[in-house]
Amino acid sequence: MSAHATTAPEELIHRIGHELADALPHHRLGGGIDRQAIDRIAADPQLKAALFRFVDVAPAARSQREAAAHLEALLAEADRLPGPFAAVDGLARRPITAPLVGRGATWAVRRMARQFILAEDAAGATRSLAKLWDEGAATALDLLGEASVSDAEADTYAARCLDALEQLDRAYRGLPGRPRLDADGTGPLPRAHLSVKLSALTPQRHPFAPERVSEDAKRRLRPIARRARELGAHLHLDSESLDSREAVLSTALELLAEPEFADGPSAGVVLQAYLRDADEVLDRLLVTAGRRKPPLLVRLVKGAYWDHEVIDARQHGWTPAVHPDQAATDRAYEALTRRLLDARPAVRVAIASHNLRSVAHAIAHDRHGGGDGRDLELQVLLGLGEDLRTALARRGLRVRVYCPVGDLVAGMAYLVRRLLENTASDSFLDRQAHGASVDDLVRAP
Ligand code: 2OP
Repeated sequence: MSAHATTAPEELIHRIGHELADALPHHRLGGGIDRQAIDRIAADPQLKAALFRFVDVAPAARSQREAAAHLEALLAEADRLPGPFAAVDGLARRPITAPLVGRGATWAVRRMARQFILAEDAAGATRSLAKLWDEGAATALDLLGEASVSDAEADTYAARCLDALEQLDRAYRGLPGRPRLDADGTGPLPRAHLSVKLSALTPQRHPFAPERVSEDAKRRLRPIARRARELGAHLHLDSESLDSREAVLSTALELLAEPEFADGPSAGVVLQAYLRDADEVLDRLLVTAGRRKPPLLVRLVKGAYWDHEVIDARQHGWTPAVHPDQAATDRAYEALTRRLLDARPAVRVAIASHNLRSVAHAIAHDRHGGGDGRDLELQVLLGLGEDLRTALARRGLRVRVYCPVGDLVAGMAYLVRRLLENTASDSFLDRQAHGASVDDLVRAP
């Protein structure tokens, strides 16, 4: 594949957008999302506030148990308001029906969780992983859990990571070969793919001393990286909010530079396009990427902590580090997509977006440069990109579904981020849900 400076013509992006839209199982994006629970939560300010409050205060809980009790109390509180689900609520309050119906708020939250969380643990996920493989999709297993508050909690998370690697290995070992999912132009692709969050791997929080965080995280990450290499699994370090960005990057890059990890495991990091300095981050990643075999996988995302970054900056009187709006982020995303694709084969590239335009643009740029999709991976989130996933697989493209695994307490921050995305009025999800035309959806940002 040759590097090329020109961008794909709009006409090609447009055509690919239509090809994808024609392959959608429900003939429109978003058809796979069950919006009932999301709408119920979004329409209930008390319930929404309870969830946000929980995410804020959960890290202060002394244990997971305490956090769970806290969540229950907040939901019960939210539930006291009369709402559209008052009838369900009434049933829930009668002792006999309560265990069957559950409280209205808990019901809505659990229902939302079921859409976005694959299973309570890795062992419980194996059948679903096999089913997705059968349907032509690879997966990234994301172990839910963020903001560990003690060494013991971080150790538990690390142990879950090791267990997940074993479960993934077992789940994928006997499955039939799928050329598009099993290899790209640079070599074999691990089927077992684990995504972890740094804030779960260490209780340390020092935005201005990232090396202290990184040292502690590397200590827990080394045994995981060793086992991943032995099993031939992929290890991905997710990005979170800006205050841990430097720690995540240095942890990943330093660990991979250690001599024992020179030839594996396959590893990757995330690039968040909404950050105004994403180009400089990519410069740093490309330096490391070029030295690694197998190549570093870079997952390009827009970024899921926009509200947090804006509020945080406002509180400190700083200029937000994120682009001011969705269109600016979308434009940055396209420019970064082109840079990444042009940097292959030194990097592996995963384009993680549900936006039809962003996805069509990436495929068009690949095709424009002579690619046939083999060296391009598309990623979607479980529950958010089901239709798009099917369309991509039908078009013979490699698609990987990001599959969170964990209990409701561990998943709450994740769910709140999905709730924010699904209810933001300037988002394409909103436009899609309101039936925007394909021409509209593939227009340049
Ligand atoms: C998140 O945790 C998908 O990794 C992303 O919100």
